[in-house]
Formats: sequence, structure tokens, C-alpha cells
Amino acid sequence: KITNVVLSGGVGSRLWPLSRKSCPKQYLPIFEERTLFQKTVERNQPLCDQLMIVGNQANYELSRKDIKGLGITKYIEVIEACPRNTAAAIAFAAFRSGPEDILFVTPSDHLITTGDAYTKSVERAIELAKEDHIVTFGLKPTRPETGFGYIEADGESVKGFREKPDLATAEQFLEQGNFLWNSGMFCFKAQVFLSELESYEPEVFKRSQEAMEAASDGFLDKELSMKIPSISVDYAVMERTRKIKVVPSSFGWSDMGSFESVFEYMEQHGYEPDAQGNMIIGSNVHTEFVGLENTILVQTKDAILVLKKESAQDVKKVFEKLEKDK
Ligand code: GDD
Ligand code: MG
Repeated sequence: KITNVVLSGGVGSRLWPLSRKSCPKQYLPIFEERTLFQKTVERNQPLCDQLMIVGNQANYELSRKDIKGLGITKYIEVIEACPRNTAAAIAFAAFRSGPEDILFVTPSDHLITTGDAYTKSVERAIELAKEDHIVTFGLKPTRPETGFGYIEADGESVKGFREKPDLATAEQFLEQGNFLWNSGMFCFKAQVFLSELESYEPEVFKRSQEAMEAASDGFLDKELSMKIPSISVDYAVMERTRKIKVVPSSFGWSDMGSFESVFEYMEQHGYEPDAQGNMIIGSNVHTEFVGLENTILVQTKDAILVLKKESAQDVKKVFEKLEKDK
């Protein structure tokens, strides 16, 4: 059985003010009147047997509304009491599944071009997962992005996995040529993932299991959840496991994770920055940039953000300051 596990617990902090605590970016209906979350679910329906959403207390109503909008009635819900990062979120999904079930784990905030290339990659990943591998999808990098994981690949073999390198290291990876971006999607058997997690992060394994066992109706308990160490699956498992494989892929992929990605996406879709590389997002007000370069201006109805493109990762700090305890 193949389950599409959709991770939807992120808050999209690097896309503030487009993404807000009350409506994280995956629920914004900005792409052909669908949300990124809906597009994710739709894209994987034909490739999987069932759907599992791992979201949280703050956004499960948004997920329910989106799923209803797609006309889907049967799916599994896991609702976190608080975000404990992706290692735990995936562990919940694995504990909720049969040991031999294949989990195809996908973020909910990517734009992907479906079609042959996508279908072939996913089918290949499922084959490798059946052989007890932990499968990643590798994409050709186009810039030394520091917000991604990098896979040192030799065909489908993985020589190394490095999450979020610094700029100098990312530049070196690009130069070397055999590094791929980690797409953030994964495929493995529930049991294979759990046994790797148990050996590399026993505390995450144990605490997630306890929290899951005490869950009622898919809702996790807050007190037990708070005890789970917060670490992403990339650091917890991908950088360490020897069972890792990569499917080198060529489908269209953009992570709408930071304004740098949005900038690149817009550039590829006909929205030109000015001659100094400045761009406006979300505003029709006539705007001039003087003496500025590589600057992005983002406007929503109640907030304006001005940033240097290189500092796109730091928008997170603004979000944390403003929205954390709201
Ligand atoms: N349920 C749940 N709970 N989901 C979560 C949580 C959580 O605590 N934290 C994050 N997520 C969801 C996010 O909503 C997103 O869909 C996905 O998990 C990945 O989390 P991000 O926070 O967006 O990760 P990232 O972008 O920094 O890095 C990952 O994705 C990159 C590609 O987009 C890594 O896998 C990188 O290696 C990869 O290159
Ligand atoms: Mg992301």
C-alpha cells in the first residue's frame, strides 16, 4: 500500500507577510485558484492508494476545507499539538501505518510540474523503497541556495547528504557538478524509516511513539509532544543513513520557501526585475528603487517588507519576532 503523507505543519515564516500564522503560505489560493496544499494532494492522488495529512492544531481546519474543496472524503489525519519539526512529523505518519506500507512523503508548499518526468521519478522511488531504501529526489541546482539540502550523487547512489550548507560550501558544491538539490520529498517503508530513526535519534523515536500511542482521534497530546526533540528529518536521518538512494529527477520544481525562490519563479514566468535586479511582489502601486540593487519589496494589505535578496533566509527572524505568540 502506498500512502501519500502530506506534511503541512510549517508556518512559512520566510514568506512573511504573504504567509501569516493565521494562514500559512500553503493555504493561499494563489495558483490557478488552488492552494499549494491542494495542488500537492491532487498531484499525488493518481500515484498513491491513500492520503495522510500531518498538520497541526492551528491549521487542520484549513486542511479540512481544502480537502473538502477537492471532493475527497476518505483520508487519515494526524494533528500535532505543537510543531516538533519533520523528523517527528514523519515518525507520527510511520507509527500510524503498517510496517510494510510505503510512505511517499511530500511537503505541501512546492510548485511541481506534473507529467511524465514526475510520474517516472515517483514510480522509480517506490521501486527502490520496496527494496528497503530511503529514497530522495535530486534536482539540478541553479544557484548556491543555502536553504536546501545537497546530495552528492553518483547515479542513484548517494555519496553524501549535506543539509543547508553555508554559502561558500554551496558554491563549491555547484562547482563540483555532481551535487543535486534535495527536493524535500522522500519515499520509504514505514518500518525502514523507523528503524533508522531509532538508531540515529532514539529520543525522537521514543518520544514520538509515546505521543502517538496517547493520541486520540488523530489529535496528539501537548505535554507528551513537547518532550520530542525538534530536529528536521534531513539532519536526523538523511545526513546519516546508509540506506539512502537518490532518483535524479528533471521535473519542474520550485520550493516557494523564501523570497529568493519566489523571485526566481517569477523571473522564469515573465515578471522581469528592473535593470538593478529589484522586484516588487504583491503591489500595483508605482514604485521606484533609487540606489538600490537586488532589493525585493513585498506588499500586502497590512504590511510592507523590504529586503535584500541575499537576506531572504532572515525574514524568518521578523516572523518570529512578530507572530510567534500571537
Ligand atoms: N506536520 C509538520 N510538522 N510539518 C512540518 C513541520 C512540523 O513540525 N515542520 C515543517 N513541516 C512541513 C512544512 O510545512 C513543509 O511542507 C515541509 O514540512 C518541509 O519543511 P520546511 O521547513 O519547509 O523545510 P526546508 O524547506 O527548510 O528544507 C527541506 O526542504 C528543502 C526543499 O524544499 C529539506 O528537506 C531540504 O533538504 C530541502 O532541500
Ligand atoms: Mg521548505
